[in-house]
Amino acid sequence: MPPHEIERIVEPFAEDLAQVERAMRAGIRSVAPLVPEIAEHTFASGGKRIRPLLVLLSARLCGYRGPRAVQIAMAAEYLHSASLLHDDVVDGAATRRGQPSANARFGERLAVLVGDFLYAITCRTLVEDGDQDILASFADTISAMAEGEVLQLQQSFDPEMSESMYLEVIGRKTSSLLATGCEAGAILGNVTRAERRALRSFGWELGLAFQLVDDALDYVGDGAELGKAPLTDLAEGKVTLPLLLTLKRCSVAERDYITSVLKTLTRCAETGDAPDRDEMAQVTECVKRWNGAETALQRADGRASAARVRIETFVDCEAKRALDALTYFVVRRRS
Ligand code: IPE
Ligand code: IPE
Ligand code: MG
Ligand code: MG
Repeated sequence: MPPHEIERIVEPFAEDLAQVERAMRAGIRSVAPLVPEIAEHTFASGGKRIRPLLVLLSARLCGYRGPRAVQIAMAAEYLHSASLLHDDVVDGAATRRGQPSANARFGERLAVLVGDFLYAITCRTLVEDGDQDILASFADTISAMAEGEVLQLQQSFDPEMSESMYLEVIGRKTSSLLATGCEAGAILGNVTRAERRALRSFGWELGLAFQLVDDALDYVGDGAELGKAPLTDLAEGKVTLPLLLTLKRCSVAERDYITSVLKTLTRCAETGDAPDRDEMAQVTECVKRWNGAETALQRADGRASAARVRIETFVDCEAKRALDALTYFVVRRRS
């Protein structure tokens, strides 16, 4: 799929998205000048704006045409930005969206604090909107995202990591927000319970596909296109699906080797020593040999198809076609 595909999908909703951008900037007011500076560093560095787009599209699909969708879409992007600020500290990431990450540029302490600020204005935005159901869905997602990251840390460097635990982690850390974005749109449209559930489930499946692709691209993606360094999940101790499948498929000798590398990497993470490049390259080779990333991409494809099925019963309209197109985009994206 050509890189301009996402632009084609958002084109009919460009004015609404531009409003979200303006509102995001206007919503950051603080007595501490570093707060808007660091927030702006995050907002201006790019980002696909998939979460606000999902809110706008779902609201439109459900027949809502008022001004609240922009506010809720903004809350979704505030929350996403907050989670990225914290995630880059937790993962020790130096690059995000092709720029130095906020922690690299301003230091970890400020990145954490501005992340806190963004969580707070997410909540303030939702409280101002006043819908209890939307607020509850976001609140559940904020805790789910934190739990996902905690579970992931707890499972770090574990060669026994199961596929069901992997799905639990990515569901919480990534799908929950996409699901909430879609559900919020459904709530705005005041649709039936079944339709609300269907849209939530669409977002959930789309989120799984999205993170599966992210985890595959960590092994087979291009750093310049991704805007973040590839081959970092292994060094960070994340046993994602490509590696997890490799551990299941490979020979006993290969499995013993990967297990010993994971042990060494645990020590590196504790001491701050750089991981051995040769060992990392050998594990990556093994993931290639056993098609770990390819299978993760196939699984993503399956999740994207499942997402499409969830919205089959909605009437055909521009928003539905855009949601459909998004399910293809997330699987084919390379950035
Ligand atoms: C990055 O999300 C974090 C993950 C859930 C993998 P995106 O890839 O949507 O990040 P931006 O906002 O487009 O940079
Ligand atoms: C995604 O996790 C971050 C959140 C969902 C909060 P990752 O750590 O896998 O994402 P990247 O690779 O840093 O974008
Ligand atoms: Mg990360
Ligand atoms: Mg990742």
